[in-house]
Amino acid sequence: MRKVLYPGTFDPVTNGHIDIINRAREMFDGVIVTVAVNPTKTPLFSVEERVEMLRKSVADIDNITVDSFDGLVVDHAHETGAVGIIRGLRALSDFEYEFQMALMNRKLAGDLTTVFLIPHEKYTYLNSSIVRNLASLNSDVSDFVPPVVVEMLKSKFSK
Ligand code: COA
Repeated sequence: MRKVLYPGTFDPVTNGHIDIINRAREMFDGVIVTVAVNPTKTPLFSVEERVEMLRKSVADIDNITVDSFDGLVVDHAHETGAVGIIRGLRALSDFEYEFQMALMNRKLAGDLTTVFLIPHEKYTYLNSSIVRNLASLNSDVSDFVPPVVVEMLKSKFSK
């Protein structure tokens, strides 16, 4: 069974991420979607909330597991038995950062290959910050995120 790891902050998961998960699922037997604790960011949602939103969003896709990790992504890939790492490339501006990260991950763990997938072009301008910003201003985000995320954002910003 060839499983691949899809790491990210997922604060929150968007339809662009789901698009990548579906594409990865077509190429591999299983996809482990893993939420990074990521101390360099100050997420709106806790790790538990991000995992819960992802689990509910992928519940109808076969062979997807969702977990979280704190540390190096390559260590988590080894722990889970993943053969590689998936990253999404939305635009040329993503490339430099992703290229650097892929090469560093290869240096750290030469047995893991990073696979870049391009989401549908309608998601090119989508990211989690924009979604958080729109939701905080009471704008409808239902075109951009799964229904469970719409509800979680509403409850977060109604507090
Ligand atoms: N659709 C929509 N948005 C997408 C997307 C897609 N397909 N792919 C990425 N994005 C957005 C995310 O929503 C996020 O938006 P935000 O910054 O506005 O919140 C942004 O692009 C960054 O994406 P993300 O995948 O969350 O990457 P990241 O920069 O937060 O990095 C890790 C996450 C987990 C890959 C990285 O921090 C990591 O590897 N950490 C572990 C430590 C480690 O191993 N370090 C060595 C690596 S060299």
